[in-house]
Amino acid sequence: MKHFIKRNKLPCTVIAAIMLVLVFAGCAQRPHEAKLSMPDSVYMKAGSEITAKTFDSLRNSLLKAINEKGIEEAITFCNLNAALLTQSYADTFFIKRTALHYRNTNNQPDSLELSVLEDMTTEMQMKEMLPGSRIVRDREAIHYFKPIIMQGMCLSCHGKRGEQISATTAAQINRLYPSDKAVNFREGDLRGMWHIIFKKTAL
Ligand code: HEC
Repeated sequence: MKHFIKRNKLPCTVIAAIMLVLVFAGCAQRPHEAKLSMPDSVYMKAGSEITAKTFDSLRNSLLKAINEKGIEEAITFCNLNAALLTQSYADTFFIKRTALHYRNTNNQPDSLELSVLEDMTTEMQMKEMLPGSRIVRDREAIHYFKPIIMQGMCLSCHGKRGEQISATTAAQINRLYPSDKAVNFREGDLRGMWHIIFKKTAL
């Protein structure tokens, strides 16, 4: 009897080993499933690095365009460049900007974005401090949100019409974005937010 049990232990161990290999092989084919179990801090770090890099390149390109071609030309450039930026990462994750008061109607917030933007606005009013970044998980994706705060250099295109925004700039904005809502901001205001979607199928 003892001998019988011993002889049957081997196939059991082999089966268990094969099952383990299969489980790991499955993970290797679908690494996103393994990765999606990572804690929020991983997505916070990735999100923060991606937005910092994107913001830097957007800001530098914008400054260069303003210096070389002037504000009116920079508006056209900013428009094209923003669209290009959102596409360049589309195979791994999707990055976009949105705002309650948006300029490009493509940047209009969806229902999830709207609730996060409203939360950030309330947080800023209640605590009188900058709202933090956050992660929201749903069935399809992991969402990273980071507030975008108005700086001095943004005023010439998002400040007060007739004061910081010149008449010619206002006319150019109006021509490209007839239903523009992204004006009358002050330095330090919540301008909008970054939204990175880490898609389950893409990771
Ligand atoms: C030269 C003019 C110009 C300057 C300066 C500028 N922007 Fe914009 N901004 C635009 C235009 C044009 C768009 C619309 C881009 C598009 O079509 O996607 C835009 C869009 C945005 C959006 C996306 C949401 C929306 O309203 O459509 C955010 C957020 C934003 N700008 C923030 C900023 C911040 C922050 C700064 C300063 C660091 C800044 N902008 C400086 C012209 C400008």
